[in-house]
Amino acid sequence: TNTTLRNASLLSALALVQQLPAMFVEAEDQRPVLEMDGDPLAFSHLIPIVDMSLLKSSDPAVRASSVADIAAACEKFGFFQVVNHGVDESLIRRCETEAHTMFELPLDVKERVHRPPGTSFGYGANTWVNQTVMHWAESFHMQLHPKSNIREFSGKLFAESDPTKFSSTVEEYMGQIEKLARQLLELLTEGLGLEPTTFNHYVENERMMSMRFNLYPPCPQPELAIGLRAHTDPHLLTILHQDEVAGLQVHIDEKWITVKPRPDCFVVNVGDLFQVLSNTRYKSVLHRAAVNGTSKRLSLACFLNPPLSATVEAPPELITAERPQVYRPFTWGEYLSNAYKFHPAMGGERHERFFLERS
Ligand code: SIN
Ligand code: FE2
Repeated sequence: TNTTLRNASLLSALALVQQLPAMFVEAEDQRPVLEMDGDPLAFSHLIPIVDMSLLKSSDPAVRASSVADIAAACEKFGFFQVVNHGVDESLIRRCETEAHTMFELPLDVKERVHRPPGTSFGYGANTWVNQTVMHWAESFHMQLHPKSNIREFSGKLFAESDPTKFSSTVEEYMGQIEKLARQLLELLTEGLGLEPTTFNHYVENERMMSMRFNLYPPCPQPELAIGLRAHTDPHLLTILHQDEVAGLQVHIDEKWITVKPRPDCFVVNVGDLFQVLSNTRYKSVLHRAAVNGTSKRLSLACFLNPPLSATVEAPPELITAERPQVYRPFTWGEYLSNAYKFHPAMGGERHERFFLERS
């Protein structure tokens, strides 16, 4: 049962060695080669930064143009960043500090909350089905809704110090992110020309919200390894915070574009479920995390989802003669238990095969 753990634990020790061990050497076509010479951030301006304070403008034209920017970003790239998002800067810093404190705990303490392979929550490496090469990363995955496991994890990790400081900070952070995510859900919905509240029932009362801390230690041969292999997010929406170290790359026009780190911003991306709800107007786009040889990198990824029983399907307004319904209706639970077989990150083919098999 401890393979995942041993692998994760190796990471910290291995950061000291010169040569990347074979278990971390990624297949050649998956390696994060820098396609562009020179500045890796040269194309990062392609991914827009939306100033959310403009959405409060008393001038309806200003607000409308911001909503249009968001919609255009979701249609073209599936990714954008937001600034002036309303989440406390100091809370972001406190959450990052808790994440670093957690990853710096001795391995035997982190093992108290280890994630057994094939399960969703706890500390370990990000292992995927059919994976033969390890990601160069440690991760810790928690859930706030429908049933929080954060206090339990916090109690086990920090039993000897302060068992609630970690959980209260993480819960406060996720609470603010959830507010932001709901606001973005309405804006993205408005951007489709729909009533902003059209999809709110998916995330009212019952909903699923989780968060993953990702820690990428400096890597001895970063050009051979990957922090997180190319994937699309299955969720409705992802709200990611990255620190000042670059690593997130988005696949746009056959190129890997590095998202410029802006600690005052959140990276927002459309997940598979929103692609379905939008009848493919919005795109759930491949992305990955590259690693580097000098700096450790921390990212905090929050995921918003409907409950498992919710039926996901595009509303009638988005189904037209020119754009017929692309995906059959399915439940989020059905997606989670089946679609992964087809997910590119799982060694499958396009995950869309699952949706496209209309019943
Ligand atoms: C993710 O795709 O969930 C994380 C990517 C990152 O660490 O930037
Ligand atoms: Fe992702």
